[in-house]
Amino acid sequence: RSVDVAIIGAGPAGLMLAHLLRREGLSTVTVDSRGEEEIHRTHRAGILEHASVEMLAHEDLGSRVLSEGHRHDGIDLRFDGESHRVDFRELVGESVWLYPQNEVFHDLASAAHHHTMDVRYEVSEAHPLDIDSENPGIRFVESDGSSRVVRARYVVGADGSRSVCRNAIPEHRRTHSSTTYPFAWFGILATAAPSAPELIYARSPRGFALISQRSADVQRMYFQCDPDTDPDAWSDEDIWNELQKRIDGPDHLELKTGPIFEKTVLKFRSFVCDPMRYERLVLAGDAAHTVPPTGAKGLNLALADVRVLAPALASAVRGNSALLDEYSSTALSRVWKAQNFSYWMTGMLHQDPEESTFASARHRGELRSVVDSVHGQAFLAEQYTGWPDIPTT
Ligand code: DHB
Repeated sequence: RSVDVAIIGAGPAGLMLAHLLRREGLSTVTVDSRGEEEIHRTHRAGILEHASVEMLAHEDLGSRVLSEGHRHDGIDLRFDGESHRVDFRELVGESVWLYPQNEVFHDLASAAHHHTMDVRYEVSEAHPLDIDSENPGIRFVESDGSSRVVRARYVVGADGSRSVCRNAIPEHRRTHSSTTYPFAWFGILATAAPSAPELIYARSPRGFALISQRSADVQRMYFQCDPDTDPDAWSDEDIWNELQKRIDGPDHLELKTGPIFEKTVLKFRSFVCDPMRYERLVLAGDAAHTVPPTGAKGLNLALADVRVLAPALASAVRGNSALLDEYSSTALSRVWKAQNFSYWMTGMLHQDPEESTFASARHRGELRSVVDSVHGQAFLAEQYTGWPDIPTT
């Protein structure tokens, strides 16, 4: 069997790419080691940039993003117990949408069934073959144990932060850049009413907290914790107390509580692999870059990658590889802006366990430089809502 493009990884990056290539008239196969249900149950971020919503809202995907998603026109930055609204719409004329990543996956996977696309879940040992030849491909073992080779014109690694594809690029042909953070996020899902109309990003002496949402009766919240925290050692009461302390203030903002049905500790780091292509292998999404979660750029970056990659692959398959030659530098230009934004938001809002009084006071100065200035607020708003695409020639 042979296709135009073989994709390893059926998360949002891989599946969205497969859909874009289908529209270009290209044939694909997409494989993933996880099961469809397992990917659907993976809780990730919930904020989509305008450009991500537009991709998802294409009629041939049948997504519920516009009917079930919620437009958010701003966020609250909260520090010293006081909230400061950043009004995206007024500042930069843009909004973001709250629509959880598992719903994004659900929509893309359902549309793949609807269009009878070749997506194979629960495969094992998937890896690229002969990527420096004219006839590359992938090899994998089906869930029934049979071994398969699919030949393709190009192979895409959309296989997440522990990418196997990335490691297929010879070591001397790629550079890895990364940084780590001395904290993690404790994430919960709870059955409760929303505590505020919009998301609250809070800095407190006890550390960061994020009050997010999922729906009228399910809420998503996070608080900064030690990376070695055992989520099961925390009772619901402990968690609600900690979250409440981090948002306490003279305005008596009070969280609406309820039973917690999901607890996870998310470790995070910043990572970039440069370049994002080697010969006939191209990386997209977390396989090439990961950001800390503050600001919710991960999924949006993955979708931005495939927005650039799909037309580039389509024209390369038709014999013109000029766009594909530019893919890595075009994608990395946005990736580094998002790295900077995620790093900036993380540093500004978190409390380093070893932080000096100088560092804490400077961070407060930094937050004041944002909220006291319309330019500071607009800088945040522009980045949070997403940068426009670089026009390709
Ligand atoms: C969510 C996660 C984020 O990292 C963020 O910045 C905003 C929202 C969320 O899961 O709802």
